[in-house]
Amino acid sequence: MHVTMKDHASRPAATRVALLGFGTVGRSVAKILCDGTHPSLQLTHIFNRNVQRKKQDWIPKHVIWTEDFDSVLSSDAEIVIELIGGLNPAEQIVRRVLEVGKSVVTANKQLIARCGPDLLQLAATKACRLEFGASVAGGVPVLPALHTGLCGDRLHGIAGILNGTCNYILSRIENARVPFSEALEEAQARGYAEADASEDLDGGDARAKLAILALAGLRTRVAPESIRARSIRAVDAVDFDYAAELACTIRQISRADLKSGTLLADVGPCLVPSDSPFGRVQRNLNLVLTSGEYGGDMAFLGAGAGGDPTAVAVVSDVMFVAQGLAGGNQAASSQVSTPSISSDFENPWYLRFFVRDQPGIVARLAQILADHRLNIDSLLQKPGFEKSSLPFVITLEPCRDSQLHPALEKMAGLEFAIRPCLCLPIVR
Ligand SMILES: NC(=O)c1ccc[n+]([C@@H]2O[C@H](COP(=O)([O-])OP(=O)(O)OC[C@H]3O[C@@H](n4cnc5c(N)ncnc54)[C@H](OP(=O)(O)O)[C@@H]3O)[C@@H](O)[C@H]2O)c1
Repeated sequence: MHVTMKDHASRPAATRVALLGFGTVGRSVAKILCDGTHPSLQLTHIFNRNVQRKKQDWIPKHVIWTEDFDSVLSSDAEIVIELIGGLNPAEQIVRRVLEVGKSVVTANKQLIARCGPDLLQLAATKACRLEFGASVAGGVPVLPALHTGLCGDRLHGIAGILNGTCNYILSRIENARVPFSEALEEAQARGYAEADASEDLDGGDARAKLAILALAGLRTRVAPESIRARSIRAVDAVDFDYAAELACTIRQISRADLKSGTLLADVGPCLVPSDSPFGRVQRNLNLVLTSGEYGGDMAFLGAGAGGDPTAVAVVSDVMFVAQGLAGGNQAASSQVSTPSISSDFENPWYLRFFVRDQPGIVARLAQILADHRLNIDSLLQKPGFEKSSLPFVITLEPCRDSQLHPALEKMAGLEFAIRPCLCLPIVR
């Protein structure tokens, strides 16, 4: 196509964008910004520590590689993308960028889960934007949907499979009946789990994401640590056999329900029907379901991580900011409530015991449950196990967590129990 001087003169100037952090996601963002797809955006700076070793010849010559953050701050870049990760120094960096009135796009879940409301407030006072669409569920555009397409509804519930590592491990045990340790090693070998995967396995990662979803969708301010997180480490291959008897499978579910000023929130392994949206999520995919008063239930499914899918979410945020469309987060900051937090969900329960076999076990457990006014729904025992380590399952009719807890404490002291009882909510 022939471009005349007049075309050039009438084309609006591109929005100048600086990138902080040239790692997995930063590199993919740079690739998208430099491939000519978005001429309205111009990459001006790439900041990274020890930047010399990061330089790539596919980055245009006009882009400045730097390890001097102050030079980015004083530059003419209008939007700064933070992809360094973690809290230190990312928090200080983001605050300083907003202080000078530049807008920020970040994928940093720790930062937003801990400081999101404060940073949104700071952005609002400086008349700039803070967008974090990639911080939950990577490339799945659930946060933008909460800010735009769903902001007309009154949402009361959000639930999701938010941690790809846990989902990979659980769906691997489900499909191959391998032990937990083997599934974890496999996830580490494939790069889906870090060497120290505690944040993923014990629910820390997912509850930070749930806190962000609660802020964006339920307009509630909740500290991640105040959300109960249960580990998936105790889930055994045999639990998938028993779950299958109940037409269920097991997934790490993060759920938040806003009811009469209380936020019920919990992260951890749950039984879910095998043919439900949660039960069908395989490998390291993410799924988020929202429940609204008017719009009912919505589902968002896709790649929750990975450089390229996450970079799409980042660049989309940058485009929204550049087009002056990103008002949702800022509006949310002035309307957030601080509810009381509880994990006292009411649901049916799955209790799995490993016992040294002896007469009278079921009678004693049944008596404890009856003493606490808890109703048994079913009792499952598969044949073929050693008497010295016998797994069996009791399911309970719906009751609150707080009703069940004292009974579990009583059961923990029984002499025939050789492992702590695994207690999982059944979420339908
Ligand atoms: N990866 C994903 O799939 C994914 C998905 C969703 C969200 N996120 C979020 O996206 C962000 C970036 O993740 P990532 O996977 O791209 O991380 P990464 O690969 O570790 O990249 C981080 C980059 O920042 C640089 N850096 C770290 N500390 C620095 C400092 N103090 N000063 C200057 N540069 C520094 C690192 O340099 P070095 O090379 O020297 O370490 C590296 O190039 C994180 O907040 C993460 O939670 C990632």
